[in-house]
Amino acid sequence: MKKLFVWIALILFLGACNDSSQRDPVVFSEPLPESEGEQLYLDMKCPTCHGHQGSGDGFLSAGLQPKPTDFSSAEIMGEIPDAQLKEAIKNGKGKGMPRFAGFTDHQLEALVRYIRSLSQPPSN
Ligand code: HEC
Repeated sequence: MKKLFVWIALILFLGACNDSSQRDPVVFSEPLPESEGEQLYLDMKCPTCHGHQGSGDGFLSAGLQPKPTDFSSAEIMGEIPDAQLKEAIKNGKGKGMPRFAGFTDHQLEALVRYIRSLSQPPSN
């Protein structure tokens, strides 16, 4: 009799586990990337130095001199042509900016577009 009770309890328990209404909803801790450039920026860990807003305050930036370029400043970014941005990503710059030689031209352009968007007001 005791065994039967254990079996019934187990079956009820497994049944409850299978109840989809009890499952937690999927929660993303951060908004998903909205463009290929943003995806690459996140995947390649650019924010560790450049920061998520591009202002150059990533946690690795503390020890860097010069500091990472402030992508959030329209004034600073206005002075820098696209070709220089691509060149820096592809071949590195100064002591702090590593080279990322593996990007295709298409990926470099997507990154430049995203970096530029950080100093522009949202279009909507
Ligand atoms: C280890 C830290 C670090 C990482 C990781 C890093 N950067 Fe940089 N980046 C820097 C620093 C420091 C500079 C400024 C170099 C200088 O001016 O001498 C810089 C400069 C740049 C520039 C040039 C801007 C200018 O002033 O001409 C671009 C573009 C850039 N980074 C893009 C990226 C992208 C895209 C990634 C990710 C794929 C990335 N960086 C990852 C540290 C980093």
